[in-house]
Amino acid sequence: KNIALLAGGYTGEYEVSINSAKNIAANLDTAKYNVYTILINRDSWFYQAGGEHIELNKNDFSLNLNGEKIKFDAAFITVHGTPGEDGKLQGYLDMLGIPYNTCDATTSAITMNKAYTKALVQGIKNLHTAKSMQLYRKDIHDVSTIASVLRFPLFVKPNNGGSSVGMSKVHNIAELPAALEKAFHEDDQILIEEFIKGREFSRGIVRLNGQVKVLPATEIITTKDFFDYEAKYTAGVTQEITPASLTEEQNRVSADIISEVYLRLNCRGMSRVDFIVQQETNNFYFIEINTTPGQSANSLIPQQVRAAGMNLQQFYGDLVEGCAT
Ligand code: DAL
Ligand code: MG
Repeated sequence: KNIALLAGGYTGEYEVSINSAKNIAANLDTAKYNVYTILINRDSWFYQAGGEHIELNKNDFSLNLNGEKIKFDAAFITVHGTPGEDGKLQGYLDMLGIPYNTCDATTSAITMNKAYTKALVQGIKNLHTAKSMQLYRKDIHDVSTIASVLRFPLFVKPNNGGSSVGMSKVHNIAELPAALEKAFHEDDQILIEEFIKGREFSRGIVRLNGQVKVLPATEIITTKDFFDYEAKYTAGVTQEITPASLTEEQNRVSADIISEVYLRLNCRGMSRVDFIVQQETNNFYFIEINTTPGQSANSLIPQQVRAAGMNLQQFYGDLVEGCAT
């Protein structure tokens, strides 16, 4: 099978995506798959062969290699953020009838938006969400209104972002304007959420051969004020403990919650849910779902796949076989 491994993208997660693609390519069985990594940049979607830059033909999603037309049996999307996690590539591939590994266009678009996702997961048993406000760039931003509605500390996030790019933890009203500006630099919509004090976890879920399987959880303990970009990608700054030390009950409840989120949002392929267990109450607070989670060798999903006793070659192979439009 010819597989187009789509990486790059138009956001600050470009490098993260390149590292995801390297690990996926290294773990796809070359006896079964011819893998072509296609880099998605704003001005060009291309394949690199021996220093040569070969433009993808977007009309039919093909490559012309030495006079031979290469068509693809499936696309493995590992672009974090737009246009790979938000439904745009999915819509394009749907139009051409090319199967892909992720959620469909609608689910991708919804889950990329943290506020819409929060609205849709309301009412799931045992699942809580932090009190929040959504702001649009065109609104008038009166920081005193925010401060009167929400309790500090707050998180200010681009609504459609990832890897904490453009995100701030805000401790008082004086810090709000700069945080809003930083988030609006990334997105036209931002989400402002109350901070939940507790332990932070992340847990993968995947539908393989029709069966939903929840992976072991990872606990995230960072030396930084929060799990920001540096904490996510700099060795030694954050401890990631997989499998996390959770009670049997916490393991079961979190697996139930994550399955319900995944099913309710009509997810497909692999996703990863981030959540907090609140210190005072032990309640589970939903942070978000990532439908194109990071796949570098040390990323959370590869850790969890190994902890589940599976190997990445089998895992990625199953995802390729499960590709659909
Ligand atoms: N957005 C990053 C890649 C993640 O969720 O893993
Ligand atoms: Mg994310």
